Amino acid sequence: MKIGILISGRGSNMAALVDAVKGGEIPASEIAVVISDKAGAVGIGLARERGVETLVIERNARPRAEHDAEIVAELKQRGVELVCLAGYMRLLSAEFVQAFADRILNIHPSLLPSFAGLSVQQQAIDHGVKYSGCTVHFVDEELDHGPIVLQEVVEVNDDDTAETLSTRILAKEHKAYVEAVRRVVSGKYVLDGRRYVITDGLSIRR
Ligand code: GRF
Repeated sequence: MKIGILISGRGSNMAALVDAVKGGEIPASEIAVVISDKAGAVGIGLARERGVETLVIERNARPRAEHDAEIVAELKQRGVELVCLAGYMRLLSAEFVQAFADRILNIHPSLLPSFAGLSVQQQAIDHGVKYSGCTVHFVDEELDHGPIVLQEVVEVNDDDTAETLSTRILAKEHKAYVEAVRRVVSGKYVLDGRRYVITDGLSIRR
């Protein structure tokens, strides 16, 4: 399965996915392209070092739909079947989501549906939750909302800052994203409404 990864910055989840594909941890897959919407993204260098094709497609002053259409065209041209958002800081247009219906994954550093959006580790600390973590989910047209593939839990300590909590969650993210992509690539699941259910057959939407 050809995978396209979208980033905006650091790219540590992207690097974890590339390394897992190259190391054989995600069988029957290939990273076709890494696309950044930011020219200065650190992740671009990480992708290049790993020998992956990279593209920078900035939005500039264009409407969202036009920017997304260019990205979709580049992904389709390379035969991409699964899109992984990895620190991609833009909301996708409905057209993008429909072009890859049920074929876009995202990783988010909280236990959704708690704390969608930005600065979520600080939100978790401010709310006083005792556990947070990360969520890998399919992307639909609402922010941080689609069917959940898997979640990993991290304990929140009394002396945590957003930085210390982020660091511990990020370490879990790298493993969780690899495992979630491995499961999705295997095709052994169904999407039943908003439930992702593991099966031993090929994926369909009920
Ligand atoms: C991660 O915390 C991810 O969950 C969130 O953005 C951050 C990206 O980090 N969506 P990186 O660019 O993968 O290092």
